[in-house]
Amino acid sequence: MQWKALALALLVEHCSSQAVAIPPMLRFTCSQLVVERLDPLVNPGIVPSPHLHQIVGGNSFNASMDPTTHDLPTASTCTSCSFSEDFSNYWTAVLYFRARNGTFKRVPQIPSEGLQGNGGITVYYIPSTDNKSKVTAFKPGFRMLVGDASLRSPGTAHKVCHRCMPASGDNSNINCGSPDAQTLPTGFCAGGIRSVITFPTCWDGKNLDSPDHESHVAYGVGSATNDVGPTGNCPASHPVVLPQLMYEVMWDTRSFNNKDLWPEDGSQPFVWSTGDQKGYSQHGDYVFGWKDDTLQRSMDARCTGDVCSELKTQTAEEAMKCTKVQVVEDDIDGWVTTLPGNRMLF
Ligand SMILES: *[C@@H]1O[C@H](CO)[C@@H](O)[C@H](O)[C@H]1NC(C)=O
Ligand SMILES: *[C@@H]1O[C@H](CO)[C@@H](O)[C@H](O)[C@H]1NC(C)=O
Ligand SMILES: *[C@@H]1O[C@H](CO)[C@@H](O)[C@H](O)[C@H]1NC(C)=O
Repeated sequence: MQWKALALALLVEHCSSQAVAIPPMLRFTCSQLVVERLDPLVNPGIVPSPHLHQIVGGNSFNASMDPTTHDLPTASTCTSCSFSEDFSNYWTAVLYFRARNGTFKRVPQIPSEGLQGNGGITVYYIPSTDNKSKVTAFKPGFRMLVGDASLRSPGTAHKVCHRCMPASGDNSNINCGSPDAQTLPTGFCAGGIRSVITFPTCWDGKNLDSPDHESHVAYGVGSATNDVGPTGNCPASHPVVLPQLMYEVMWDTRSFNNKDLWPEDGSQPFVWSTGDQKGYSQHGDYVFGWKDDTLQRSMDARCTGDVCSELKTQTAEEAMKCTKVQVVEDDIDGWVTTLPGNRMLF
């Protein structure tokens, strides 16, 4: 169980002399559902949306997903997640490699160490940093967004970062602590590039969404970028403690680790599907869709990893069968002369 080593290393930092304690956390794979130019959260009903996303979770994902009528658990017939009652949708931007001749190739995705699946996202739900505090699971219709697809400079309000991965056995802080950065790595990464997106853990207790999809939630007061788990220190405006939702996406850049392929001026060749060559525009979207009270029960039971007595699971093979046909027919596998949606580079 490689990931236990990760969590362990992370806690050593916080509990220097005490016996090392692992916070409970669900950690599981959601395989690729579809790679698609849709965004029901930011651009509902708009086909195509401005840039390409990679999406995982329940197969009721579509362009509209009207929060007042679209019930993900009943509208879905399968999910690409290993917990088979999780019909939520999770999505992020897509990483591209830009060749010297100016053409682009989508970077393949792989599951995180110790997990099985077809690309997609490793999803975490963390109930607390100890074994005591309670969290309130998201409610049906809940949505939120972290990051900003148009961001061109460092953003302080968002916990979105990249890690240049070693060949194996990543043993440093799990989140966005140093040496992780908001910018894309500038050199070869022997184990690919990991992007981590950490969501806020405090909710206003009233609104399932907000016009910017962010202001109904907030990070804990004084929370550091590399905190793992809800600290419970919620502002008075957002008093309800939510599970810590976190995405980890592994981009397999290894086949591009070749000096002859990289730009002659020494810059790095990767670009987000937004058109962003620096890295600030990566973002994560979430539409809650767990069946009944399954998420609450798993949080209360302090389940850890991808097995939980409160939850039904399916095999990686079953999860990988849950896919969707693209609505917007972009070529996502070949070399292309422009990014999907004709994105300008910035
Ligand atoms: C929580 O409880 C589990 C099982 O008893 C234990 O292994 C773990 O170290 C505890 N974690 C903390 C943060 O106390
Ligand atoms: C999305 O799914 C809902 C529920 O299944 C359906 O009513 C709606 O027509 C779909 N919208 C699109 C744009 O496909
Ligand atoms: C551009 O460069 C890539 C990588 O070297 C190569 O695979 C591709 O065929 C080239 N495309 C054109 C149109 O030359």
